[in-house]
Amino acid sequence: MSSSTTPDPKQLYIETVGCQMNVLDSEMVVAALRKDGYSLTNDPANADAILFNTCSVREHAEEKAYNNVLRLKQLKLAKPELVIGVMGCMAQKDQQKVFDRVPFVDLVVGPGQLHRIPELIEGARRGERHQLAVSLSRRDGSIEEIKRSHETFDPLRDPQMRPTPFQAYLRIQIGCDKFCTYCIVPMTRGPEQGRAPEQILQEAKILAQQGAKEITLLGQTVNSYKWVDGDRTTRLADLLEMLHPIEGLERIKFVTNYPKDMTRELLQTVKDLPKCMPYLHVPAQSGSDVILKRMKRGYTTADYYAMMDRIWEILPGAAVSSDFIVGFCGETREQFQETVEMVKRCRFKNSFIFQYSVRPGTKGAELLEDDIPEEEKHRRNLELLDVQNQISLEDNLRFLGKAVPILVEGPSKWSVRKGQTGEFRQMTGRTPCDRIVVWDGNMRQTGEILPVEITDAYAFTMLGRVQTHEVVPGDLQLETPEVLSLESLTTNRR
Ligand code: SAH
Ligand code: SF4
Ligand code: F3S
Repeated sequence: MSSSTTPDPKQLYIETVGCQMNVLDSEMVVAALRKDGYSLTNDPANADAILFNTCSVREHAEEKAYNNVLRLKQLKLAKPELVIGVMGCMAQKDQQKVFDRVPFVDLVVGPGQLHRIPELIEGARRGERHQLAVSLSRRDGSIEEIKRSHETFDPLRDPQMRPTPFQAYLRIQIGCDKFCTYCIVPMTRGPEQGRAPEQILQEAKILAQQGAKEITLLGQTVNSYKWVDGDRTTRLADLLEMLHPIEGLERIKFVTNYPKDMTRELLQTVKDLPKCMPYLHVPAQSGSDVILKRMKRGYTTADYYAMMDRIWEILPGAAVSSDFIVGFCGETREQFQETVEMVKRCRFKNSFIFQYSVRPGTKGAELLEDDIPEEEKHRRNLELLDVQNQISLEDNLRFLGKAVPILVEGPSKWSVRKGQTGEFRQMTGRTPCDRIVVWDGNMRQTGEILPVEITDAYAFTMLGRVQTHEVVPGDLQLETPEVLSLESLTTNRR
């Protein structure tokens, strides 16, 4: 048969920003479009369809998204059949405003409507303009109707369509009901809803059959997960127990955690189940009680410190990471210093630090004054980052000379380097406690769990060397503490 009978595959270019939810959403959309005959391209100039998966959590991310879309004007003029879509949280938040700002956009699709993308792209190819698919806003219907309209698109995935076969995200919860005063997420992702445990278990089993060794459970407040069925309540700890026996699965993680719901029971479950990684992302947001109250976070610094004590008691080797917002409305220098103290006291593995950005539609925007000058926010950001980096460096240095089981993720950004015996690749992977390690290796290592000896350490990464003696992977799994001494690796040899 001549190739003229099979149409050329259509090309899709997709850009994704924001949190892991968006990464997963893009993966699902790509999978659906692949079924429609699309393949991925890295070059927008070659694309038949271009999608931007957007984030609204800070103004900067939105402005960048608008600029990126605007830049396509010439391309669209030269190729009118090119379909351009804006999806994700900014699509849900701005709706019609996206078309007003960028009239040549063809579709605007909120995170709860992504299953409609293939049909909407087809519509655009037939000449339909300005198609809007968004979920109900928080005031536009009964709670059941609103919930249904935000339900996301998590079909079972075709193995070939996942970016990395050995790592997978699995959504267990959508939306958020916490309404922190600075945050837009409850508006863009709708009400908090857990997915049914049976559905989660089925998806996890299929992912493992497809080769997923690591599954990361996703939710905005993942440890608040709750599913009630008659008189049976399933919480995150129960889910972890359900998923743990799955054959082939070696690492289970969950993000993002809410401090108040980090219960003893959950921590004990993580301790008891060796596949649960000793890594907990539990954003504190501020070290000042006044600010936490103004943020409506629902806990005090004493509650947070008590949670840290529980973690240290039950999981002494665990790594904890946090998010902080600096320069929130009315934050004094003293209150900021309390945040610095919190970082020093909690010794986070790392902290994501953000300068407060007013989000229209939030209580913060409505009721509080954004009164900290941008330069001051920036200064506080740098000061806190300095303190955090010093801690990260000190903690990474403790790993020198130790061997750690690393799940190899693939080549690093600076992948190919010249060595004396030719080219080799710099590979990257993560420790059980989510620290990043790079070493000179090869592509065959991708997806393996290997013992890597740490030879040097910086604040963000550690350098290592793969241990050459054979280690039975099962032995590594038996040892939950993040660090295995070289000695224990050698005695585990068979
Ligand atoms: N659900 C997660 C956070 C999701 S948003 C949680 O509750 O922890 C990711 C991070 O962005 C937040 O933890 C917060 O630190 C930051 N963030 C959210 N809204 C922000 C805003 N308006 N300005 C600056 N940073 C913000
Ligand atoms: Fe936003 Fe707060 Fe919900 Fe996190 S818990 S998504 S910060 S409202
Ligand atoms: Fe951004 Fe939406 Fe995630 S606002 S952080 S992409 S839930």
